Amino acid sequence: MEYLLQMINISKTFGEVQSLRNVNFEVGYNEVVGLLGDNGAGKSTLVKIITGYHRPDPGGQIFWKGQPVDVMTVAKARELGIEVVYQERALADQQSLWRNIFMGRELCHRFGVLDVEKMRRETARLMQSHMGFTSKAITPDSTVKTMSGGERQGVAIVRALYFQAELIILDEPTMGLSLSETRKALDFVKGIKEAGKSAIFIDHNIFHVYPVADRIVVLDRGQVKGQFLKDQITLDELIAKLQHVAQTGRLE
Ligand SMILES: Nc1ncnc2c1ncn2[C@@H]1O[C@H](COP(=O)(O)OP(=O)(O)OP(=O)(O)O)[C@@H](O)[C@H]1O
Ligand SMILES: [Mg+2]
Repeated sequence: MEYLLQMINISKTFGEVQSLRNVNFEVGYNEVVGLLGDNGAGKSTLVKIITGYHRPDPGGQIFWKGQPVDVMTVAKARELGIEVVYQERALADQQSLWRNIFMGRELCHRFGVLDVEKMRRETARLMQSHMGFTSKAITPDSTVKTMSGGERQGVAIVRALYFQAELIILDEPTMGLSLSETRKALDFVKGIKEAGKSAIFIDHNIFHVYPVADRIVVLDRGQVKGQFLKDQITLDELIAKLQHVAQTGRLE
């Protein structure tokens, strides 16, 4: 079976600390993978290896669409269509919505003149079709600083989809969000699935991960302790398994 992303035997050591130990991890085409684990389990380290920010220890392999990636760099990851959405750093607060959507990838007329009207129009279209912004209060010219955490999250995800990201990684996107904002953010994750793309969704909270994930991978102290297809485990069963892992470090 070919995966969108496949990581084999990935380890990462920082001095005395081994953050990841012989991790096998994969993401399928059009699959949302929930990555669960306590503080320090190694979730963000795994993400940083996928995005080329950290180099793994020698001995591991990374494949993208079945092809080996010799060295994953930040530039390589971007070229492949891997995007990370962070809650806070995602957007420029003082800038308008349309500027945020097209930042660094502006649409231009000939001779490099910005096509502001087209960017505004496209933003308005995306707001309706993908972001579910029905409120008249928010327009393409609104500044991002007036928007809620969940709405910002949505803008960052829609931007990634618009620019054809194949794999969108969300590292604790619901951190610090209210309940209703969290629901909004989770809806955007469902939008990734509906758009036919893949995602890795990281969160401490099983109640956030379970509803949106196709598969759930449990990381504990740098190791994959188990994985479950959502269709094959109920939320209650999963909670019991996680408690067992937390107490014993083992799945069974
Ligand atoms: N740059 C680094 N230098 C040294 N140690 C690091 C570094 N990055 C991570 N670690 C260590 O690796 C381990 C895993 O950290 P990581 O950030 O991947 O965990 P996490 O699962 O994302 O945790 P959290 O849920 O708190 O975000 C921790 O013990 C952490 O201290
Ligand atoms: Mg983390």
